[in-house]
Parts: sequence; C-alpha cells; structure tokens
Amino acid sequence: MKKRLVIFGATGSIGSQVLDVVRANPDDFEILGLSAKSNKCLLEEHSNDFNPRLGWTLDISKMEEMAINPNTDMVVFACKGTDVINVLIESIRHKKQIAIANKELLVEYGERIMNEAKKYGVQLIPIDSEHSGIFQILNGNKDREIEKIILTCSGGPFLNMSQEGFKSITFNQAIKHPNWKMGKKISVDSATMMNKALEIIEAHHLFDITPEKIDVLVHPQSIVHALVQFRDGSLIAHMGYPDMRLPISYALYYPQAKENNLPRIDLIDKKLEFYKPDLCKFPSIGFAYDALQRKGNFTKKLNQSNDKAVEMFEKGEIRFDEIFEYVRKGTFL
Ligand SMILES: NC(=O)c1ccc[n+]([C@@H]2O[C@H](COP(=O)([O-])OP(=O)(O)OC[C@H]3O[C@@H](n4cnc5c(N)ncnc54)[C@H](OP(=O)(O)O)[C@@H]3O)[C@@H](O)[C@H]2O)c1
Repeated sequence: MKKRLVIFGATGSIGSQVLDVVRANPDDFEILGLSAKSNKCLLEEHSNDFNPRLGWTLDISKMEEMAINPNTDMVVFACKGTDVINVLIESIRHKKQIAIANKELLVEYGERIMNEAKKYGVQLIPIDSEHSGIFQILNGNKDREIEKIILTCSGGPFLNMSQEGFKSITFNQAIKHPNWKMGKKISVDSATMMNKALEIIEAHHLFDITPEKIDVLVHPQSIVHALVQFRDGSLIAHMGYPDMRLPISYALYYPQAKENNLPRIDLIDKKLEFYKPDLCKFPSIGFAYDALQRKGNFTKKLNQSNDKAVEMFEKGEIRFDEIFEYVRKGTFL
C-alpha cells in the first residue's frame, strides 16, 4: 500500500527534494496535499505533476485540515518558521507519522512538542541530517546509556577566513555552502554556525538529552554527520554522502529502508578531519548552551533575533560580523 503524504513547504529546498524522492518512487507514495507560504506558481506546477487529492494551499487552517485528514499517513514538515506550530500539535494529537526538517519549531516549542508526542505515543522522525544520523544510531542501541552526542558541522564557507575578513562578507558569498545545497536562510546560518546552535537545541529536545552531553566538532568533509558515544566508550558514527535526499528517504520510508540511486561514499584515500569549533570567531554555539542553561524563553529569543539578523544582513542593513552581536543582544539583554 502506498504511504499517503501531506507536504508542507513543498516549494523550498527540502520540500523539492522530498518531491524528488516521491517522483523516483511512484509505487511507494501518494501525495495527498501540498503547501507553501506564497509561491503559488511553483505550487501549482507541483500540483500538476502530482495531482494531490486534497489539493494545495497557502492557508494555515487548510494545512491543518490536510494534516488531520483520515487518509493522511504522514505529515512532512519541510517548511520554515513557527507559524505551523498548531498544525504540528494537531498532527501529533491525530497520531500521524511525522517527518520534521523544520528546526525552528523544535527550537521555540521543543518542550511542548515533545510532551505532546510522548502523551500521544508519536515518534518524530528527523530529516535534519545530523539528527537523522543520531536517530539511526539510537534506533539500534535503544538500551545503551548515552555518554555524549556529537554533532558535526562543515564549518561553512568562512571556516578558515580571519575574523577581520568577516567584515566584508556579502550575502551572496554567505549562501554558497561548500558541501550542501540548501535554502538561503539555513545557508547563512551555516556560515555563522548559528545552524549548529539551533541543532544543539533541536537535539536536546528530540533525544531528551542534557546540553552538557551534546558536543560539536568541525568536520569539513561532511561525511560523518553524527556520532554517539555510549557509556562503555564505544563511539558509533553515522556516515553518508552529503545529500539531503538520504535522510529524507530514511524518514519517508521509516521504519522500512529502500535501496536508492544516491551516490555512495568511497572511503579509500578519503581524509576525515575533526576540529574543535573556534568559539571566538563563531560565538553562536556558545549562545545555544547559554540559552538552554537559563530558564525561560531564551531559545525562542535566540531563534527570533537570529531570524531578524539574517533578514537585516540580506537587506544590507548590518554586516556579516554584526550578526553575532545583534543576536547576543536580542537574546540575552
Ligand atoms: N535546506 C536544507 O538542506 C535543510 C537541512 C536541514 C534542515 N533544514 C530545515 O528545513 C526547513 C526548510 O528549509 P529550506 O532550506 O527548505 O527552506 P526554504 O528553501 O526557504 O523553503 C521554505 C519552505 O517553507 C515555506 N514557508 C516559508 N515560510 C513559511 C511559513 N511561515 N509557514 C509555512 N510555510 C512557510 C516556503 O514557501 P514559499 O516558497 O512560498 O516561501 C517554502 O516552501 C528549515 O527549518 C531548515 O532549517 C533545511
């Protein structure tokens, strides 16, 4: 039987790749509904390709109807921002299978979401590559006590640039990620390492793990996405070609796995490097630990001030290096 999907954020980078996976496997999935924020033109195009039974929408209340429709098996949150929080909560309450890329929801509402998920016995299947990696490692090691989770990050396009050089970085330079093809906002977040800060908070909620047990390593090759160290000292890594269609396929097929034509990694002669992140050049990671340590709505403030800072950087209102100070003030002062 085909898995029937509703996809939110179908016009974005993740949404389009979800549709690529569905397009490649027409016997396994049926698209029931699609949504976007405003890109009606592309949504209509997708709709012509997939002919969703419940249609497409730009309207949040219609999204909720699609999500909780009795025919919907899985709801895919490939959108960004937090406007869809109630749609996610209702999807959980209707015990839908949930695949989630949208990290802002977990950063701002993690506790509420995970409480509902626990209450209704719903598992959230992460699409974010690092979290998919951790999820996959933990899946085979449910009874082992975790000592530490390590999220890797490529370091972005400015890993080796001097701090002085940050002053003249343009928006177009910041959205050119060395390893991943992503939406603009998350590309800037990768360049500032704010993406990793949001992912620390995301991991804290998804895996119910305290911040002290979450570490970050810079790994420029983006082959190892996540590592979990267990109490006995075993360190298990998740590796994969840096292509979001891999974690997307995993989530869509979960709990099964299906073969695919995605590139395989050839480890021969491959150099895998790991470094400590430079928290002086990239203070964002420290912001995440600070925000989690303080009780209150600091993670929400961190996400919102970063959203605003990226918007201002895109408009040329602040420089790249000013993003850090803007976020620090917006979160903690
Ligand atoms: N791209 C990646 O490789 C990647 C990897 C891991 C995690 N993520 C996470 O996945 C999410 C999507 O990222 P993306 O890179 O795919 O973003 P994107 O390319 O900017 O696409 C965002 C999608 O969400 C829709 N959208 C925008 N604002 C919305 C709102 N307020 N309510 C509902 N829908 C809205 C957009 O519609 P319009 O086109 O109409 O604006 C678009 O379909 C983000 O949370 C990101 O952090 C992305």
